[in-house]
Amino acid sequence: MRLKSLELRDFRNYKSLKIDFSDDVNVLWGKNAQGKTNILEAIYFLATARSFRTLERKSLISWDSDKFLLGCRISNGAEKKLRILFSQRERKVSLNSKRVSKLSDLIGILRVVIFTPEDIFLLKGNPFKRRRFLDICISQIDRKYVGVLQKFKQVLIRRNFAVRKYGNRNNSFLWDEQLAENTAFIMGKREKVIARLAEKAGEYHRDITSGKERLRIEYRPSIKVKEISKREIFTHYEKHRRKDAEKLCTTTGPHRDDIDFFINGKDVRLFGSEGQQRSAVLSLKNAEFVLMKQETNETPLILADDVLPVLDRERKRAFLPSLKGNAQIFITCTDKKEIESIGAKAKIFRVFNGNVAGERV
Ligand SMILES: Nc1ncnc2c1ncn2[C@@H]1O[C@H](COP(=O)(O)OP(=O)(O)OP(=O)(O)O)[C@@H](O)[C@H]1O
Ligand SMILES: [Mg+2]
Repeated sequence: MRLKSLELRDFRNYKSLKIDFSDDVNVLWGKNAQGKTNILEAIYFLATARSFRTLERKSLISWDSDKFLLGCRISNGAEKKLRILFSQRERKVSLNSKRVSKLSDLIGILRVVIFTPEDIFLLKGNPFKRRRFLDICISQIDRKYVGVLQKFKQVLIRRNFAVRKYGNRNNSFLWDEQLAENTAFIMGKREKVIARLAEKAGEYHRDITSGKERLRIEYRPSIKVKEISKREIFTHYEKHRRKDAEKLCTTTGPHRDDIDFFINGKDVRLFGSEGQQRSAVLSLKNAEFVLMKQETNETPLILADDVLPVLDRERKRAFLPSLKGNAQIFITCTDKKEIESIGAKAKIFRVFNGNVAGERV
């Protein structure tokens, strides 16, 4: 899969910009605060309908505007044109000039895996970050998951509202059938995907540590059942009704799931060194890339934001070649010297104050 070109209007610090990319490696190079990450953010948004930096989508709109526009040309055999117009009031998405009904329908048309220095918070941060990573990963592979997850969230909001209003009475639990059905689907998917990510991340981690470290990744579902089925999960929710009414919310479910990481049997979050934590996340991200490629038969784009400075020299040299395969890469950096470690075939863009100029190919 290739991103041929990108167009931005009133997005972050870009007034109006069009860029044609190389099918191979694209380097966005420039001083701090010029707009390098903003370009990756635009590409990420076209892929996932989200930012990787903020939950507030409106902060992507240029300060002196009330809407932004993103457009791109994608090639994967056929060519596709994707456009998004986003404002507080309206979101218009079109694929090949045909209107797409919801913003979330665009997920999976363009696929990306992102590497950033903040990835370490996937490990160190709260479970929300891990669930978000997992949900975005699965959503890009499986369209149905996007819809079921949205339904689950809606049903959860209704149930919580009813529990607060009616307490432990039947009215509170009218949605439990639906809740159980969506939960079973989400848990089943998460379990499968984590098992596959774990396997691939384990292999990669063994390689980058020359066999010294064994990385184990495990799904820690909030609901523990013998078998993930609608029936069992319904019974589980039923058993927890009294507690949910007491706590005025749904105390268990996919919204409380987590993922655990162990290196040589020890919890990486509690006992891992900074370097071990970085390697574990790198292995996970690498696994995400490989999984996405296998599941979709297409190579996702790699977005790498400022990752070179946080890698040690050995890993820096190994980072791109070990990942790349035939992926198209977008990498930002501030130090021109770093471009050398990226390789000769890169197309270099100089980013300066919301403008981008091709330097040399
Ligand atoms: N909504 C917005 N409207 C206008 N400008 C914005 C908006 N949001 C951020 N900016 C500006 O964008 C710039 C930051 O861009 P970006 O994060 O892409 O920088 P960068 O080149 O990646 O820098 P660094 O090397 O420090 O990571 C800042 O100057 C910031 O003020
Ligand atoms: Mg940046």
